[in-house]
Amino acid sequence: MKARISLLPGDGVGPEVTAAAAQTIGAVARRFGHSFELRTFPVGGAAVRESGVPLPHTTLDACRNSDAVLLGAVGDPAFDTHPPGKRPEAALLTLRRELGVYANLRPARIYRGLEAAGPLKPDLLAGVDLLIVRELTGGLYYGTPRGLDADGSAAHNTMRYSRDEVRRIAVRAFEHARGRRRRVTSVDKANVLETSRLWRAVVSEIAAGYPDVSLDHMYVDNCAMQLVREPARFDVIVTENMFGDILSDEAGAVVGSLGLLPSASLGDGPGLFEPVHGSAPDLAGRDVANPIGAIASAAMLLRYGIALPDEADALDHAIDECVAAGVGTPDINGRMTCSQVASAIAERVHAISSISVP
Ligand code: IPM
Ligand code: MG
Repeated sequence: MKARISLLPGDGVGPEVTAAAAQTIGAVARRFGHSFELRTFPVGGAAVRESGVPLPHTTLDACRNSDAVLLGAVGDPAFDTHPPGKRPEAALLTLRRELGVYANLRPARIYRGLEAAGPLKPDLLAGVDLLIVRELTGGLYYGTPRGLDADGSAAHNTMRYSRDEVRRIAVRAFEHARGRRRRVTSVDKANVLETSRLWRAVVSEIAAGYPDVSLDHMYVDNCAMQLVREPARFDVIVTENMFGDILSDEAGAVVGSLGLLPSASLGDGPGLFEPVHGSAPDLAGRDVANPIGAIASAAMLLRYGIALPDEADALDHAIDECVAAGVGTPDINGRMTCSQVASAIAERVHAISSISVP
């Protein structure tokens, strides 16, 4: 098959991990006989430097006209004092909104061989395999009114959710649960927030249509604790935008490193695929960043972005086998560089897929 994939490397370690992911996509294309057209466009601080804006029109148009978008990371301390619309992060928020990718899937599972890599006791980690379904285009990130008072004495943001916004993300969560262990935990703060009470009511309504999937509700503060106390109890976690942002970083620590986590942001058009980690300016340019989050995001791109599940499985298996064999960057106690990890996984793609390719 042919597919057009836009690459948005962005800032910090973004270009390194995007190059790594692109290398593995190339390996999949060669082994399975696909023709993917990969084109690179500026985004974030890199785009501000080039053209003065974090999301140039050409970049947005290219994304709209591609089959899928793979993004590295945005964020650059040099722009910390810029007004909100000129910060690198604005690119990501606008891109998510413009592509309408309201459903953000953030899987976190424990890789074989990494049980001792993170801060949690290894015996807590057996069977950890969860999926955070984060609402991505609503809530505090996008609610209006918002702003900083002219005299700088106060600031405000608005958390707002409509029934429809909650309904569509809940449906995604229940559908995913059906392909997994059939358990949904809906996370909110319904003891305090009206938006959470609406959230809870709508999720419960949707649950009625999924009698084969169990639902429980959990307050976000309790969820943050349960995630480190007993992470294996979770299957699908569905939650609003900011709670999902926070809990997904925590999930990174649970499985050993934030650098391992991929994500897929899906709506009705092209999907946006990006590692959960940020631009990590302290690691940039040294070839030490963990590319597995980005490579696993490429696997999600193959699976959900261009409907190639076998190819996605091959790439995921290649990652699993490499990690189990000790391939890794220092954050997971490995000794390899970012590019060495990418090459090892790309080579593995060939070895694995030769069994299954007709
Ligand atoms: C993430 C990031 C972004 C977010 C930032 C970079 C805007 O933290 O994807 O989790 O908050 O959504
Ligand atoms: Mg985040």
